[in-house]
Amino acid sequence: MDLLSVLQRLAPELEKGLGQVFSLADLEQLRVDFLGRKGRLAQLMSQLSGLSPEERPAVGQMANEIKTRLLALLDGHRADLEARQEAAALARFDASLPGRTPWSGSLHPTTLVQEEICAVFNSLGYEVVSGPEVENDYYNFEALNMPPEHPARDMQDTLYISEKILMRTHTSPVQVRTMLSRKPPLAVIAPGKVYRRDSDLTHTPMFHQVEGLMVGENISMAHLRGTLTAFLRAVFGAQTQVRFRPSFFPFTEPSAEVDISCCMCGGKGHLNGEPCRVCKTTGWVEILGCGMVDPAVFEAVGYDPSVVSGFAFGLGVERVAMLKYGIGDLRMFFENDVRFLGQFA
Ligand code: PHE
Repeated sequence: MDLLSVLQRLAPELEKGLGQVFSLADLEQLRVDFLGRKGRLAQLMSQLSGLSPEERPAVGQMANEIKTRLLALLDGHRADLEARQEAAALARFDASLPGRTPWSGSLHPTTLVQEEICAVFNSLGYEVVSGPEVENDYYNFEALNMPPEHPARDMQDTLYISEKILMRTHTSPVQVRTMLSRKPPLAVIAPGKVYRRDSDLTHTPMFHQVEGLMVGENISMAHLRGTLTAFLRAVFGAQTQVRFRPSFFPFTEPSAEVDISCCMCGGKGHLNGEPCRVCKTTGWVEILGCGMVDPAVFEAVGYDPSVVSGFAFGLGVERVAMLKYGIGDLRMFFENDVRFLGQFA
């Protein structure tokens, strides 16, 4: 009877069919033809019931073996196809092409310079302190010897939130808060964001400042000069010249503005025969404000000005970064162009 021989022909026929199969989709079609629910093997099995009980077991067993054989043939061919596809992909793969470097972030130049400034003062024994960016009029102005209606408030282009609440215009309020919560002696620096109603080529409504304060007995202007000169030479180089010009701040007396020799032209005012655009040929650039803490400030925070004295200073972080790295445009700090930022990685 021929069920058996038909069964036995299945494997060679499948092999012949596989010879024409070059894709996984065709392979699947062939599998369905032979082993699917209505495939050739299933159809032959449905004829099993027509056999005599004596014949049935042998044919059934044969059918199982053939099914195993068919599966093995299909699997073997699939493995072949996959290996061939992979080899073809590898042949197209050029191992000598440069790889894709993963993106990695880097610190913003403002952050780098702020950290550098803090590190120099840390090495001089200063502690970093911080405070709120939304401030009370009292800490930002009044305790700093700027009572309401004081004309010096105009210098600060304040962004008000309400009559008494404002965006801090400098980090000096952190120094007030520190003095109110501690006893002298102290040496602190306050880095952070400050806000002013000002926006043009050289001003942005938000920028970063570091302010410093030292209070103790017998602190003099000589300490201020020594400290700031050491700091400026650490940041701008040992050859940097430093000069102090008399100035005015309501919270310091006497007050000074500090210039350094221009780091672009080395203080010569000219660079390769061209006028230096950084110092505008003067050879000097302004870098910070400072002074001896005004006795009125000590009184406001409950320190006795006949016992302690101190100095304070403040500088803009972006300004230091511009001078240090020769960046000509303040806006670069806020545009977040990765071509600019990546140079500081
Ligand atoms: N607070 C001043 C400002 O931002 C800077 C400064 C600090 C000047 C301390 C002198 C002393 O304008």
